[in-house]
Amino acid sequence: MKLLILDSPDEVASWSAKYVAKRINESKPSRDRYFVLGLPTGGTPLGMYRKLIELHKKGKVSFQYVVTFNMDEYVNLPKTHSQSYHYFMYDNFFKHIDIDPKNVHILDGTVSDLKSECSDYEKKIKQIGGFDLFIGGIGADGHIAFNEPGSSLVSRTRVKTLTDDTREANARFFDNDISQVPREALTVGVGTVMDAREVMILITGSHKAFALYKAIEEGVNHMWTISAFQLHPNTLMVCDEDATLELKVKTVKYFKNLNPHELINSDSNASIKS
Ligand code: PGA
Repeated sequence: MKLLILDSPDEVASWSAKYVAKRINESKPSRDRYFVLGLPTGGTPLGMYRKLIELHKKGKVSFQYVVTFNMDEYVNLPKTHSQSYHYFMYDNFFKHIDIDPKNVHILDGTVSDLKSECSDYEKKIKQIGGFDLFIGGIGADGHIAFNEPGSSLVSRTRVKTLTDDTREANARFFDNDISQVPREALTVGVGTVMDAREVMILITGSHKAFALYKAIEEGVNHMWTISAFQLHPNTLMVCDEDATLELKVKTVKYFKNLNPHELINSDSNASIKS
């Protein structure tokens, strides 16, 4: 696992957007070989989406041959609701780029058969050949997608009950009223993300520092589902200074040797520290 420590959330946004553009461009996607991207919602990736839109508008990256799968969606929240992840993704990203809507996949939490919705999602991911790059964030409780503490580390796409912590954290998007936050969500599993050929996790802010410490310095544990990525062969965590507050000084010092320019300019598999 690599940890790239940048100064600020703004730098995390710019660096990660450049990295995504670089990975898409170097894979030279075409109608015969699409680039398959896993995408998150939430406050953390917003800056990256803005920067990717800028790069697209400058002609630096096209999404014409990119297929996306979002990591999660609330159950029973209409797609038109301003806090649904359908709405979030179209509003903040898809409507500003040249992606073909038929290449966008987001779980539908409003269907009657949620189980089939989840198993069909897994089938579609498999049919297209799996993820080239999965981008994620983490919750303060260490969840990846909505894989809450105690989730199986080999889980697949399914319905999850959200913890009170997650609902409280997300109440900020629902008029600070926790009763409006859905109790369940559909989410890709930890195993679904672990199958990606490459994973990039964005972490910003001191409120995520303890989760980052659990992810990096402690063992693999289903109570901190992000820690599973210690067993992934190609995971890059990109964080800001504030997110490192719970790490040991020597851990920070070690990972600070990672050169962000080298990572952007080199082959992503050529790890400096892995
Ligand atoms: P956030 O959410 O980016 O809004 O902090 C991340 C998450 O809960 O996975």
